[in-house]
Amino acid sequence: MRIGLLGCGTVGQAFARMIAEQGETITRASGRRLALGRILVRDAVRTRDGIDPALLTTDPQAVLGDPNVDLIVEVMGGIDPTSALLRQALEAGLPVVTANKQLLSRHGAELLELAAAAGTELRFEASACAAIPVIKVLRESLLAAEISAVTGIVNGTTNYILTEMTRSGLSYADALRQAQQLGYAEADPTEDVDGADAAAKMAILSSIAFHTNVRFDDVPYEGIGSIHAQDIELARDLGFVVKLLGVARLAEGGISVRVHPALVPERHRLAAVMGPDNAVLLESGTVREIMLVGPGAGGTETASAILADVLSILGTAKGSFLQNALVDAGRPLLGPEQTSSAFYVRLDVQDRPGVLAQIATVFADAGLSIRSVIQRGEGDGAQLVLVTHVGSEARMTAALAAMRILDEVRDEPVLLRLLAEAAT
Ligand SMILES: NC(=O)c1ccc[n+]([C@@H]2O[C@H](COP(=O)([O-])OP(=O)(O)OC[C@H]3O[C@@H](n4cnc5c(N)ncnc54)[C@H](OP(=O)(O)O)[C@@H]3O)[C@@H](O)[C@H]2O)c1
Repeated sequence: MRIGLLGCGTVGQAFARMIAEQGETITRASGRRLALGRILVRDAVRTRDGIDPALLTTDPQAVLGDPNVDLIVEVMGGIDPTSALLRQALEAGLPVVTANKQLLSRHGAELLELAAAAGTELRFEASACAAIPVIKVLRESLLAAEISAVTGIVNGTTNYILTEMTRSGLSYADALRQAQQLGYAEADPTEDVDGADAAAKMAILSSIAFHTNVRFDDVPYEGIGSIHAQDIELARDLGFVVKLLGVARLAEGGISVRVHPALVPERHRLAAVMGPDNAVLLESGTVREIMLVGPGAGGTETASAILADVLSILGTAKGSFLQNALVDAGRPLLGPEQTSSAFYVRLDVQDRPGVLAQIATVFADAGLSIRSVIQRGEGDGAQLVLVTHVGSEARMTAALAAMRILDEVRDEPVLLRLLAEAAT
């Protein structure tokens, strides 16, 4: 399958890298090989890492008019000339995958109609919440679930700023500067901080959730620029955290969609979504609540959603890989002894001098290092709790065997495993 690429910036380059690096996996899973055709850019002279300069062009027709192109991926952004180029591709019957929220939130319905009329597909997972597969879930898994509300943290920049204002007591200006330094905010952050970016995403999500055409202009939005450190502190005293929320609801037979800062109860699951992450909470009478959380931006993350759309298009073809048996990648299944984790071990021991040292030696001999120890006396005995650093299951099994035969250990040791700490 030859892919014509419109745009080769942050997302486009990540996508090109991904299909080169994951080519074998993609072919094994889908039975098709993905290859890049011509690539539209503004500046075809500038070189881009890992991209064959001969593929770059400034002529859109070199991409769209290539008779060997099977599918168009649009990652150039903007409305003009992108809209006309996508119309041309769809009218020619080419499937299109796009990450363009501005375009989709304004002209999505017309473009989808055009795709249907031409008997082709338009997919746009990456246009809202990047790597989180919320559009696929709404369009396919929850198609008949009668969604009653979509509540989302759909802008990572503002969530990062509000998180830092909450965690570190930074002012809005300092948190924004920090977000810019870390690449979570653009040099011109207006679209993010004034709520427009979130409004575009909510227009897309609510259109799909409620089977109704909601456009960007239909979504009133407010940003976070007027929030002071003082508001964050007062909200905390009242038991809330401040989040920029997209709120879409079915109400009184109609739909209301808005974006505004909101006080979220501390224990609410959206309150736990920190930093640049996005989250979407879907409510329905049939499935109650489903929350999807993950990275809502980033070149690789967005490219992964685009690749997923490309593969979905391949998967809809008759007799495609989605209708076939599971592909066997031939990976060996690891037994428990080949896995690792940190361990919690509770021992009921005799309260004698030297017992702790003896147990510590057992762990050391097994090659397990101890992170913390708690000892509590109980009559002539004691409860000894040891938490280890990450070690192999095989080592833990050896340590348990050695502990069981110690006279000082009075009962079968209790072993629990620690959930791996998230990389932060
Ligand atoms: N970055 C993210 O994290 C993210 C997340 C979700 C969705 N998206 C969406 O993905 C799309 C691409 O974002 P990006 O961050 O990759 O943008 P970007 O880095 O600015 O890249 C845009 C690319 O399109 C080309 N381009 C733009 N206008 C053009 C025109 N009129 N004619 C020809 N080429 C043109 C640019 O060419 P030059 O290289 O020559 O300038 C560049 O290669 C946007 O719709 C964005 O909203 C991005």
